[in-house]
Amino acid sequence: MTTTLELPGDKSISHRVLMLAPLAEGPSRVRGLLDADDVRSTAAAMRALGAEVPEDWSAGVRLPGPAGFRDAAERLDCGNSGTTARILCGLVAGLGRAAVLDGDRSLRSRPMGRVVYPLQALGAEIEYLEEEGRLPLRLDRRETGSLRPLVHTPRVASAQVKSSLLLAGLAGGVRIEVREPGRSRDHTERLLEAMGAPLSWGPEGDGARAALAAPGGDGRHRLDPLELRVPGDPSSAAFLAAAALLGAGSVRLRRMALNPTRTGWIEVVRRMGGRVEVEERGRAAGEPVGDLSVRPSELEAFEVGPPEIPRLLDEVPVLAVLAARAAGTSSIRGAGELRVKESDRLELLAAGLRELGVACREREDGLEIEGTGAPLEGRVRTGGDHRIAMAFGLLSAAGHDVEVDDRTCARVSYPGFWDDLERLLEAPG
Ligand code: S3P
Repeated sequence: MTTTLELPGDKSISHRVLMLAPLAEGPSRVRGLLDADDVRSTAAAMRALGAEVPEDWSAGVRLPGPAGFRDAAERLDCGNSGTTARILCGLVAGLGRAAVLDGDRSLRSRPMGRVVYPLQALGAEIEYLEEEGRLPLRLDRRETGSLRPLVHTPRVASAQVKSSLLLAGLAGGVRIEVREPGRSRDHTERLLEAMGAPLSWGPEGDGARAALAAPGGDGRHRLDPLELRVPGDPSSAAFLAAAALLGAGSVRLRRMALNPTRTGWIEVVRRMGGRVEVEERGRAAGEPVGDLSVRPSELEAFEVGPPEIPRLLDEVPVLAVLAARAAGTSSIRGAGELRVKESDRLELLAAGLRELGVACREREDGLEIEGTGAPLEGRVRTGGDHRIAMAFGLLSAAGHDVEVDDRTCARVSYPGFWDDLERLLEAPG
């Protein structure tokens, strides 16, 4: 029997909708926003800046615009969410409002210079309050219309950096161009296009380019309100798909975002011999959407290198766990960015796999993992990282005696994960 599951809304799109809708000329209507801690951090910060965001999202939300933005009276607590901290930094800089951005211990250890430096080049006044390059930081109030146009070429492809700058340009009424060395996720571009922003964007060579034109006339961009149902999160889907591949049972995952900048993991799983079918069913705010069907499969080792990494960055923990159960030695390279995620994911994955008896070599930018058919056993340290917890949780679902030290951290991106996993396991085979 096949278990059909509804996926939680896409996290990246949910953050962006909450930050973009209050800039629109009228109220946006949005269903399917992800209700998880990270997105709640964005919602609370937007409220503190003067946007109206209802507390209850279950039946869909009406997000009025344009908001009358104000200085934030209290610290904006971005919690565990790098996307909130980095994109919000650009939005606040563009609005010219004053705010202090902060986060939890994990977020305070993550680099902010990658957005602060180009935002300063744009003319924003930003000061680190404790450690150079880290949260907390303060953005000072600034006259509207005082930003300078910017062309930025980041060293690493990052959707957070790109989006931060595009939102600064949008809110600040200035031309922005971002040229990336790889193709990071392009949800901001797709939403902005749906809102009628003067944006040109797309792949360029091995990378991508996004350019927001300066507004005409009164120096303000006019954006149409959004009307959409947020599609399901492919990064959350990857965990359930992996559970199915490892033998939990066949699963059908409904209404997943099929954006090609997010689905690199499906190609890898297919190379491994995984039985995955994709059925495109429509579009939402410029995103292709469809169903994913996955069946238990015999898996072979895989290799993933730098060009593929931006399209499967968040799924490396899932792929590492699949590698542990695949025949042969898998290799993941070009993934050094994982050292500055919610945890040092390369270190925690290597340590966790070894703890369970899987041979794993840690490289500066990746992992080599020897698959094993032996039963796995042990207790794994998650470092409070949701994706590490969910990835190793798959092994206990697959019948191994594996315990993760913190299951609750899944709530930052996928609060229903353990229940959905249980439903898949309990379905009659
Ligand atoms: C995200 C971008 C990616 C990703 C993160 C979400 C986004 O980070 O890893 O989970 O929503 O823009 P980088 O921009 O650092 O690559």
